[in-house]
Amino acid sequence: MKHRIVFATGNAGKMREIRMILGDLGCEVVSMKEAGAEPEIVEDGKSFAENAEIKARAVWKCTGDIVLADDSGLVVDYIGGEPGIYSARYMGEDTSYEIKNRNIIERLAGAQGQERSARFQCNIAAVLPDGRVLHTEAVMEGLIAEQPAGSGGFGYDPILYIPEFGRTSAELTIEQKNKISHRGKALEAMKEVLKKALEEES
Ligand code: IMP
Repeated sequence: MKHRIVFATGNAGKMREIRMILGDLGCEVVSMKEAGAEPEIVEDGKSFAENAEIKARAVWKCTGDIVLADDSGLVVDYIGGEPGIYSARYMGEDTSYEIKNRNIIERLAGAQGQERSARFQCNIAAVLPDGRVLHTEAVMEGLIAEQPAGSGGFGYDPILYIPEFGRTSAELTIEQKNKISHRGKALEAMKEVLKKALEEES
């Protein structure tokens, strides 16, 4: 059976990336707004996986389609995994990333080499029309830089140094980042998981 895929996000950039990656599944891919489903969502989960599932389930209750949602953030080992699921809310939702990034670098004063390990992490949840839930998760590994660098990307990109490129995430091209990013890899994995689920159905 042919399904529609609804992605529970209001972010146009994410929708573009998602359409590019999921295009060859042969399903129409729409945002929750395009599907007319914009429920009030309280992200009170304790993990990326729980939050992704909360978002996907809330939209699925409105549409009954295949609904996908992602949740992501920066995990810094030296400070106990902060900001983690609170990445967007860290130091307050309205605080600039220039300030958030400076603060994280300050908190790592004295940390050397691998002590600076950190990663972007992304979990994607898919709720299928029958209510089953599938998850994929991926990371983009790096080190917290000594100084912010680069103007590409968004959020914490200027402080995650990617050793294999010798640059921060904000210094990568969009193509370079999409290939190795937590979200790109989790989406690719989700495409394979969905392909299998759709094959089993037919
Ligand atoms: P969300 O899952 O899109 O809501 O992302 C949560 C937060 O994690 C964002 O607001 C950013 O602070 C951070 N984040 C997630 N992915 C990235 C990334 O690729 N670059 C920089 N920051 C990110």
